[in-house]
Amino acid sequence: MSPTTPMSNTLKVNRLSDLLASHQLAGKRIFIRADLNVPQDDLGRITEDTRIKASIPAIKLCIEAGAAVMVTSHLGRPQEGQLKAEDSLLPVADRLAELLGCKVPLIKNWVDGGFQVNPGQVVLLENCRGNLGEKKDDDELSRKLAKLCDIYVNDAFGTAHRAEATTHGIAKYAPIACAGPLMEAELDALSHALNHPERPLIAIVAGSKVSSKLTILKSLAEKVDQLIVGGGIANTFMLAKGISIGKSLSEVDLVSEAKEIIDMMEKRGASVPIPEDVVVANELSPLARANRISVHDVAADDMILDIGPKTAAKFASLIAHAGTIVWNGPLGVFEIDQFGGGTKMLAAAIAHSPGFSIAGGGDTLAAIAKYGIEKQVGYISTGGGAFLEFLEGRTLPAVAILQERAK
Ligand code: 3PG
Repeated sequence: MSPTTPMSNTLKVNRLSDLLASHQLAGKRIFIRADLNVPQDDLGRITEDTRIKASIPAIKLCIEAGAAVMVTSHLGRPQEGQLKAEDSLLPVADRLAELLGCKVPLIKNWVDGGFQVNPGQVVLLENCRGNLGEKKDDDELSRKLAKLCDIYVNDAFGTAHRAEATTHGIAKYAPIACAGPLMEAELDALSHALNHPERPLIAIVAGSKVSSKLTILKSLAEKVDQLIVGGGIANTFMLAKGISIGKSLSEVDLVSEAKEIIDMMEKRGASVPIPEDVVVANELSPLARANRISVHDVAADDMILDIGPKTAAKFASLIAHAGTIVWNGPLGVFEIDQFGGGTKMLAAAIAHSPGFSIAGGGDTLAAIAKYGIEKQVGYISTGGGAFLEFLEGRTLPAVAILQERAK
């Protein structure tokens, strides 16, 4: 099982935990920006509530400290000024009430205040993306939001890559702006893994296209000891190594970029391990017959849909000896069992590695759930786009403004 990592406070931001420790929360009006953007079915029922559960500690902490707590989030991408019934946070308010064991009234039209919330109570402020100016990080709106509170808490790591009024603008003007415990945990885990990792550091980056993850690949190529690529990305790297890939998904125009990454890694004494065997089929279908073959035997009408068992065993051995593992993307079409062997073995290797592992991204979380290793991953990020942008080495605007306020 992966141990929990010793956290390093590399990013200097004010933290809600410090305000609690110095007794600064009682009687204060606290505005928490959470990321409660959860998937729903056609009837609006929440189908997966990890983000709601992950937001509970900050809210509880503030209620118990005697603060008057306002929480808001976006849900989906509604048109500003035109919230429809399906954009409402009402199902989220109900779930929050269940998890907190108290009433969570939903407040509409809240930008100008005028609603009641007493110390020790919490209210949920309706979908913040309904407010005119939210997405453009409008200054006038941001100033109004800041007036609602004494302390602004950003606990929405999943939205930290967006500069919007509730994630960025408000933080400029609130009397105090700080990170909540979820934001804190995400930043600590990610910056520890990327900036102060136990070595060897292995990154697994997989997905259909090199183009969508090129910046991540380049940024990680400068840091990691092994860069394991999977899916269509691996096919493009195989082409770069002169291996025929039949009719597999690839991006021929990015072969030179793949070669550059391989060269860059080799010059540093690091590597991109290329599969030696693969699982192929003639079609992508649950009924397709899967064949395990050497990479040198891929025929013109074969599609590579997974890594083969020898490659999976090799990757598992690398992972068993890793100090830190960063995982984004399944290695094959794991949704279809005959093409899931590589991802399954990878998941088992991560689960049993003594190294600290961190995983994020929608497909990766689905693979973690499918193979039941949630409890054995060191840290599972609640971020999708934010997780990827952090891996790219980009500045997350919502974090940058918290850092600015901590100076
Ligand atoms: C997400 O689901 O990744 C976050 O909630 C951000 O949502 P957005 O892409 O609509 O900004």
